Amino acid sequence: MRMRKKAHLEERMERQSARLIERPEEHRGRWRELLDGCEEVRLELGCGKGRFTVETAKAEPEVLFVAVERVADAMVMAMERAQELGLENVRFIDADARGVTDWFAPGEVNRVYLNFSDPWPSNRQAKRRLTHPDFLRLYAAVLAPGGEIHFKTDNRDLFEWSLFQFPKAGYTLRDVTRDLHANGVNGVMTDYEEKFYSEGKPICRCVAVKGDTLSARLTLVRPGPEHKGRFLEYRQAFLDAGEVCGPLPGLDFAGDGEARSADGAAGTDTVAVKGDTFIALDRAGKMVGVVHIRRAALEPVGGHIDLAVRPDRRRRGYGVELLGLALAWCKDHLGLEAARLDCYDDNAAAGRTILHYKAELTDKVADGEGRQVRRYRVTV
Ligand SMILES: C[S@@+](CC[C@H](N)C(=O)[O-])C[C@H]1O[C@@H](n2cnc3c(N)ncnc32)[C@H](O)[C@@H]1O
Repeated sequence: MRMRKKAHLEERMERQSARLIERPEEHRGRWRELLDGCEEVRLELGCGKGRFTVETAKAEPEVLFVAVERVADAMVMAMERAQELGLENVRFIDADARGVTDWFAPGEVNRVYLNFSDPWPSNRQAKRRLTHPDFLRLYAAVLAPGGEIHFKTDNRDLFEWSLFQFPKAGYTLRDVTRDLHANGVNGVMTDYEEKFYSEGKPICRCVAVKGDTLSARLTLVRPGPEHKGRFLEYRQAFLDAGEVCGPLPGLDFAGDGEARSADGAAGTDTVAVKGDTFIALDRAGKMVGVVHIRRAALEPVGGHIDLAVRPDRRRRGYGVELLGLALAWCKDHLGLEAARLDCYDDNAAAGRTILHYKAELTDKVADGEGRQVRRYRVTV
């Protein structure tokens, strides 16, 4: 019986091969090429039988919808619905949503829909919730600046818990409601939603925006004499925290805070590798961090990128944002496909920052003082 069902499923899946993306990683950074005039890329994670994706895609033909579902029996129905309507702008991935950063490049996605995600009520299973901070950080890595998560659920406990998780993961909440359809049907319904609505159950909905806290807060600029006052204030933040500031190639923190031209500086590198140093200014013009990008990886330890965030601005996602800007620069100006990033084995915070991106631990080596260093290959 099971075999027959499976064989039948495979046939149905094969008939939908035009919309099924078997190797989504091959489209990373190129999803827009699948739809002429594509204006946005949106994901529905856990699409089930797909009513929401299909109806929304029909209404917005200029948007490419990618629906992810790990249960093929449900997803095949979604695909058949898309075929019936002849939709060109829908694709499906039959896999666990945990793979999003393998499939999408940083900033490639404009919106993520989480509709009636499984609540996993026991604390032991909290990590499986699609609104768990681990998942929210994965979405942040692929969302464009200002990108949004639209979350709907009938489960009040999951909703209230999730409302706490979004800000922790760096999102700003808006349009929070605990009765979306109080004044009649509001927006496209999902299969589950229609059932709950007909039972009179209130539907909770919120929008979580990546933007104010995770991206577009920082601007990279080449340091110049006009930044001297900001350097000194930045350096003082390290002194106040009892930390040593820098030095980084191109920034003379040891002296009077005067900036030298970063271009071509070898600075403190043991092997001369040309690089570019940028300071990161926030919207108020305050210096938040520094990043040095080498034109070739420093061997055996050092890699392509060094970065620092001032002590009084840590734990706010600035390191992740700064690294994202540096990786984008590596891609745009150095033509790299992957950068090497190194961090000390015992520097858990640096390791977490790197793992926000598509990073593969390649090996561990000892530095000149015998400290273990992790070396990562990070796709840009
Ligand atoms: C309760 S159903 C909701 C389906 C649909 N969104 C709706 O509202 O009608 C949740 C769906 O999410 C899928 N799902 C849960 N966790 C997932 C994950 N980590 N990756 C992919 N799909 C997942 C489940 O297989 C299930 O089909």
